[in-house]
Amino acid sequence: MPTHHPTEEATPEGQLIFDENLAEQFEARYRTRDIVRRRELVYQALDTQPGEAILDVGCGPGFFLAELLGQVGATGSLVGVDSSPQMLAAAARRCASSRNITLHKADATSLPLARAEVDRALSVQVLEYVPDVVAALAELYRVVRPGGRVLIWDIDWSTLSWHSDDPARMAQVLQAWDEHLVHPCLPRTLAAALRSGGFADVHTVGHTFVTTRLDPDSFAATVCEFITHFVAGRCGLTEADVAAWMAEQRQLDERGEFFFACIQFCFTARRP
Ligand SMILES: C[S@@+](CC[C@H](N)C(=O)[O-])C[C@H]1O[C@@H](n2cnc3c(N)ncnc32)[C@H](O)[C@@H]1O
Repeated sequence: MPTHHPTEEATPEGQLIFDENLAEQFEARYRTRDIVRRRELVYQALDTQPGEAILDVGCGPGFFLAELLGQVGATGSLVGVDSSPQMLAAAARRCASSRNITLHKADATSLPLARAEVDRALSVQVLEYVPDVVAALAELYRVVRPGGRVLIWDIDWSTLSWHSDDPARMAQVLQAWDEHLVHPCLPRTLAAALRSGGFADVHTVGHTFVTTRLDPDSFAATVCEFITHFVAGRCGLTEADVAAWMAEQRQLDERGEFFFACIQFCFTARRP
């Protein structure tokens, strides 16, 4: 069993709440093709070595922790930190048979780790939800050893290129969807923030997630599912508006006219 250390933190208001329902949705969505592809891209960029200590900030339901186990081996260790007890419960279930995994309930801006405690740290689609990104980067800098590496992955939601025959309604839906997080365009400023935070060798790669089919394994389908649960009641959208928006996307797909693309960004850097 992983060790689990709870501490108290507040949830920011208005944005997506990482509760039991969302934890269940993540269980299903994080097994889909495009999210699996995303994890593979992360592993290539992280380049974990056997025996290393790896920290996952905002570990969510623990897919990275469970899969990284095989990469660090029996002499390595993993630490997962998340502010959501429900996500940590899912991570604990996923990693139940592993002894070298520790889970902490804590905020990204206040990591319960000692200075230079880990060799590498990753944080995938987390900092876009964290109000004080500078503080979170400072914490990553503190807990990664000199010479160690960090990987941060976030989405620039303004790169969404998404076809609709009702562009006004699509704009309204995307405006409401932007309320699900604090920083809809964080990648634009992350490389500079990493350099200002003292990191060296900052490297940025953009990965396009594009599909012309609304197939259930696509990132587009994941976004549709989260949008339909989130946007009603925001920016003047009723439940009926959201249902009509989703129905149009299905009709476009049936006619072979569906199109969705967005860019997700992977940043890597070294602590000098
Ligand atoms: C989109 S999920 C990503 C989960 C995981 N990184 C992955 O890609 O599989 C975002 C996660 O960040 C966590 N989170 C959000 N704000 C946080 C904060 N301020 N401190 C720690 N975790 C946070 C959420 O609880 C959630 O589990």
